[in-house]
Amino acid sequence: MKFFNLSIAAVLPLAIATGIVHAAPAPDNGVTGLVISHIVPVGEYNMTYWVDAPGTGTVAARTLSARACGTNDVTCSGSHLASTNVCTQLINSLNTGISIGNSPRSICLGQSNNQCCVSWSGGVGTMPESDLVNAAKNIFGTCFSATNGSGLARNVLLNNICVTQCLSNRPDGCS
Ligand SMILES: *[C@@H]1O[C@H](CO)[C@@H](O)[C@H](O)[C@H]1NC(C)=O
Ligand SMILES: *[C@@H]1O[C@H](CO)[C@@H](O)[C@H](O)[C@H]1NC(C)=O
Repeated sequence: MKFFNLSIAAVLPLAIATGIVHAAPAPDNGVTGLVISHIVPVGEYNMTYWVDAPGTGTVAARTLSARACGTNDVTCSGSHLASTNVCTQLINSLNTGISIGNSPRSICLGQSNNQCCVSWSGGVGTMPESDLVNAAKNIFGTCFSATNGSGLARNVLLNNICVTQCLSNRPDGCS
């Protein structure tokens, strides 16, 4: 079985066939390597789905054993603070059966000057959005005050792939 470079493998033949091979497009809103996939209204805010820019995403290897990952080890950060109120709404709205695909990398609720984003360190392919809830709750419970917070969790299993997951005010920079 081959789990590497799935996105590139999927995108390149199409790009070649349609003659659109060129440098990666300019990022949206200065977000390096990511572009907006779609935006859906959720409550009073917009929910923005960020994906790898075409041709840049790779799906990481699946873990050989689920027991090697999934401990969701939280580290809090004092930077990239996000609103506790907006993050609460984001986490609540992630708990759906929706599957997200096409190299998703982050989901933000709100707008650039007041948003909460769940993001992760590498491509994981198509996954249920609800995969993001456990680590997001772990980070939220450990790192957020009544007003704001920011943090990451290491050893998070998303779609059976081991990544770092972040909860902050930005769609990128999770490593
Ligand atoms: C949501 O996004 C749409 C465009 O996709 C925009 O017209 C609208 O103003 C946005 N709403 C909020 C609350 O940001
Ligand atoms: C974040 O929360 C801390 C502690 O609750 C508070 O002191 C600080 O002013 C808040 N910062 C922002 C940017 O809201």
